[in-house]
Amino acid sequence: MPKKKALLLGGSGLIGGHCLDYLLNDGYYSQVEALVRRPLSLKHPKLVQHQASFDQLKDPLTTIQANDVYCCLGTTIKKAGSKSAFREVDFTYPTEIAKLSLANGAEQFLLVSAIGANPNSSIFYNRVKGEVEQAIAQCGFQGFYIFRPSLLLGKRQERRPSEEFGGKVFQFFSFGFKGPLKKYKPIESKAVAFAMIEIAKEQRYGKQIYESQHIQSIYDQS
Ligand SMILES: NC(=O)c1ccc[n+]([C@@H]2O[C@H](COP(=O)([O-])OP(=O)(O)OC[C@H]3O[C@@H](n4cnc5c(N)ncnc54)[C@H](OP(=O)(O)O)[C@@H]3O)[C@@H](O)[C@H]2O)c1
Repeated sequence: MPKKKALLLGGSGLIGGHCLDYLLNDGYYSQVEALVRRPLSLKHPKLVQHQASFDQLKDPLTTIQANDVYCCLGTTIKKAGSKSAFREVDFTYPTEIAKLSLANGAEQFLLVSAIGANPNSSIFYNRVKGEVEQAIAQCGFQGFYIFRPSLLLGKRQERRPSEEFGGKVFQFFSFGFKGPLKKYKPIESKAVAFAMIEIAKEQRYGKQIYESQHIQSIYDQS
């Protein structure tokens, strides 16, 4: 079987960093194209880095060809500075990346969304996540896979005190995540990355949504 090429967005982030490790170490992919705004320090024979401003995605994405696109981009309103700047990273960039990569031959698109994503939500974050899912679903990929993790666990370079506190509290009460509450259980970011690569390799096609507990079970079965 001919080997596949992956395009990764968000390779410097928590989930994206784990995706990068898995993609580089999995023989399924012969090449990993990483589109970044700042160069990654990692060097690897399979890794090709493209540095660009995400305001101008057209130039790099009309030349980079990939079978599978992994979108792990994201920010917070606090970090972005405003709701509109947040929306640009979490909605506009992923949607543009989807359109441009599809036009350039991509078959599968894997999107990290979030638990609670809903285009009709009254909560801004959940609404933007729901809207981006909806917009990319309309593009027409052979396979569109949405991952909706709960609170992410893992080591960040930057401090996010509220997420760290939340992670600790949830871990302390982890015995309580049973029945209908199971889907809220925090999840290791590497489990999300692992599930993404497994799903892409299975080529399930169509639109599929993976809630947090499903992602966890894919990782647990490995
Ligand atoms: N945090 C949680 O508990 C949680 C829970 C559920 C879902 N999620 C979602 O999961 C996804 C991944 O989260 P994460 O915590 O792994 O993300 P992260 O560590 O914050 O990484 C985000 C990635 O997006 C890139 N990015 C941010 N702003 C950018 C911009 N303006 N231009 C270009 N690239 C930009 C970052 O690049 P730089 O390194 O260059 O900044 C980084 O590679 C996000 O969509 C998030 O909403 C998070």
